[in-house]
Amino acid sequence: MSLQMYLINETMLKNGKKLVIRRPVDEDACALINFLNTVGGESDNLLFGKDEFYLTVEKEAEYIEKVNSDVNAIMLLGLIGDKIASVAELRGFGKKRNGHNSELAISVKKDYWNKGVGSAMMEELLQFARDHQTIRNVSLGVKADNYNAIKLYEKFGFRKIGVHKDYFFINNQYYDEILMDLYL
Ligand SMILES: CC(C)(COP(=O)(O)OP(=O)(O)OC[C@H]1O[C@@H](n2cnc3c(N)ncnc32)[C@H](O)[C@@H]1OP(=O)(O)O)[C@@H](O)C(=O)NCCC(=O)NCCS
Repeated sequence: MSLQMYLINETMLKNGKKLVIRRPVDEDACALINFLNTVGGESDNLLFGKDEFYLTVEKEAEYIEKVNSDVNAIMLLGLIGDKIASVAELRGFGKKRNGHNSELAISVKKDYWNKGVGSAMMEELLQFARDHQTIRNVSLGVKADNYNAIKLYEKFGFRKIGVHKDYFFINNQYYDEILMDLYL
C-alpha cells in the first residue's frame, strides 16, 4: 500500500534522524496498541499505565478509520525508521454551539524524548487547527508535575486557565490536572 497520501511532513530531528509524520492506516493498529501500552508504563503522565490500553486490533483499526474520515479530527503518527516514536491527536468538538473548541493529546516514546519529536508533532496538530474553518480554541489537560509537557505546551503559546483538583489517582495518590488553552 502506498502511504504517500497519508504523509503530512518529514523533518530532521536534533540528532540528525528523520521523523516522518503521517496519518495512521488500518495496518498500524497493532503497532499503535503496542506503542500505547509501552508509553503508558514509561511515565505516570497518561490516563493509562503499562499494558492498560485494552482495545483489540479490530477496534483500533475501526477507530483509525473513524478518525481519518472525521473532518474535525486528526490523528498523527511520528515514525523514525519503521518505529512509532509518537502518537498525537487533535479533535474538534463538532457541534454547532461548541465546534470552535478542540482537544489535544500527545505522547512520545521515552527513547525519543527531548529530540524535537513532540515539537514537530505539535506543529502539525496546530497547523490542522489553524487550517480548519471552525476551530479557534485548543484545550488540553496535563498532570501538574509533568514539567516537560507543560514546557512544550507553553512553547507553543498555551496558557494555564485552571486546575482540576485531585483529578488523577495514581499509586494511591491524588494529583491535580492543569488545564491549558491556546486561542488561535
Ligand atoms: C511531554 C512530551 C510529549 C515531550 O515530547 P518531546 O519529544 O520530548 O518534546 P521536545 O523534544 O519537542 O521538547 C519540547 C520542549 O519541552 C521541553 N522539554 C522536553 N523535554 C525536556 C527535558 N527532558 N528537559 C528539559 N526540557 C524539556 C523543552 O522546553 C523543549 O523545547 P526546546 O527543545 O525548544 O528547548 C514527552 O515527554 C512525553 O510523551 N511524555 C510522556 C507522555 C506525556 O506526558 N504526554 C503528555 C500528556 S499531557
